[in-house]
Amino acid sequence: MKLDFPLFPDSASTLAPQLDAIYFFALAISIVSSILIALAVLYLAIRYRRTADNQIGERERAGIWLEITWSVIPFAIMMVMFVWGAKVFFHARRPPADAVEYYVIGKQWMWKFQHPEGYREINTLHVPVGLPIKLTMTSEDVIHSFFVPAFRGKMDVLPGRYTTYWFEATKPGSFRLFCSEYCGTEHSMMGGTIEVMEERDYEKWLAARAGEGGPAMASGAELFAARTCDTCHRTDSELQAPYLRGTFGHEVELTDGSMVRVDENYLRESILDPGAKVVKGYQPLMPTYKGQLSEDELLQLIIYIKSLSDDDAAEASSAASEEAAS
Ligand code: CUA
Repeated sequence: MKLDFPLFPDSASTLAPQLDAIYFFALAISIVSSILIALAVLYLAIRYRRTADNQIGERERAGIWLEITWSVIPFAIMMVMFVWGAKVFFHARRPPADAVEYYVIGKQWMWKFQHPEGYREINTLHVPVGLPIKLTMTSEDVIHSFFVPAFRGKMDVLPGRYTTYWFEATKPGSFRLFCSEYCGTEHSMMGGTIEVMEERDYEKWLAARAGEGGPAMASGAELFAARTCDTCHRTDSELQAPYLRGTFGHEVELTDGSMVRVDENYLRESILDPGAKVVKGYQPLMPTYKGQLSEDELLQLIIYIKSLSDDDAAEASSAASEEAAS
């Protein structure tokens, strides 16, 4: 009989071996020190046992060097764990600059994914192997948590803000996705699959779906017009509202003189609560869109605004290099 009860998850991301190494190191240290302590208890219990009925305990002093040794060695071991752990932690939390961005929305009780090309799928995410992938995630309702044991690491998916998680798959295959934060009746069923494919297979898979947006949904550009964002945020004038091209990822100055980085969370706040952080030189004229946009629509708008910056940055840099060349 084959037991389908793996004691240790598959290792399928660049993070997995790093995290496993530190895990096994900590485990080995724990086992060795537990054995040493147990042996010491046994030895000392026998060595200092009561040998006569009228014997009273007396003080025994250990030398200063013994004290120093049993303080310094554990300290050194803890520091190794701390520095090593911090290194792996920073690696796990900082997506590489060239990571490809996918989007995730959790809701009771399913996972919705969106590819950079706009294709959407539910509970299954297809990704290419060997490419760093960054997930920008949010929740439509309560707190969920994105966890793929084979990739290690996991990240909470929160309502009202964006969190990120990144991974680079090291081998093709199907890997289970779990929600690891209790989120209601069907929490245990809120799972899915990450299908890791060879890059060529992935390209083919994606090409077969070209033009399909998945479940019907207006694109960010359509929403930008439909919600009349474009009456004020125009590309030909920035009198009424800030120019959005080329601002994503940069810092802007606010009316109170402080600086803020334009990222997903700032755009989100500015759409839902436009008066919170107004860019210097503008009046808080924009109406709130709170309650008028679904998480999906908000995400499409933000993706659209981000895409504006990409184009512009590319144009600006090519214009600059042309200028430099001439
Ligand atoms: Cu979603 Cu538990």
